[in-house]
Amino acid sequence: MATVTELSTETLDAIARRYSCRAYRDEPVPQQTLRAIAEAGARAPSAVNRQPWRLVVVSDGAVVSELGASGLAALRVADEAGYARIASRGGELFYGAPAMIVVAAEPQPGLLAADLDVGIVASHLALAATSLGVNSCICGLGRLAFEGVEGEAWKRRLGFPAGFGCGITVLLGYAAAEGGTPHQPDFAKIIEVPAT
Ligand SMILES: Cc1cc2nc3c(=O)[nH]c(=O)nc-3n(C[C@H](O)[C@H](O)[C@H](O)COP(=O)(O)O)c2cc1C
Repeated sequence: MATVTELSTETLDAIARRYSCRAYRDEPVPQQTLRAIAEAGARAPSAVNRQPWRLVVVSDGAVVSELGASGLAALRVADEAGYARIASRGGELFYGAPAMIVVAAEPQPGLLAADLDVGIVASHLALAATSLGVNSCICGLGRLAFEGVEGEAWKRRLGFPAGFGCGITVLLGYAAAEGGTPHQPDFAKIIEVPAT
């Protein structure tokens, strides 16, 4: 069954419109808007309600850019091909985003790794941003900045509690150009088990 349902809500609409924005214009995101996005992240469910995160809101574009440069330097050391890919896209790990939320995470023992919780937070952040007219990009490569030689200094500067690492980063801002589109969803990947 390849049909798309006709059900529509604001939430479904935001889910359908969200895409990874990779070029931002030089315009700050209002503090109140960033706060609303971060609060949506804090509402994310987590295994055993551990909430093993801190949501670090970086609203200074210069700091975002500095962090991106650190990450790119670490990428160059860790993965030459990955570095070349970013270089060919303009050489900015964070695509000129004026703001970001760094999801710091505390490693968790056992089956349910903190990364699962972190991914759900990232989704909440990106969808809340879309609903507020803010573009976003979930950026796993942002972790690099916290793993390179400057990693510990960044953790201190951004107020990570002891033992926390970077779970993921979510870039926020306004698209440089209209018309960005998400990936083509493959509904054939949905398996519907018929009722007996
Ligand atoms: C866990 C995760 C990590 C990602 N890391 C990056 C990244 O480092 N850089 C980037 O440009 N996009 C990153 N993305 C965005 C994906 O490339 C993007 O979601 C995918 O290509 C689908 O496109 P869409 O989000 O526009 O629908 C990441 C997405 C996820 C979920």
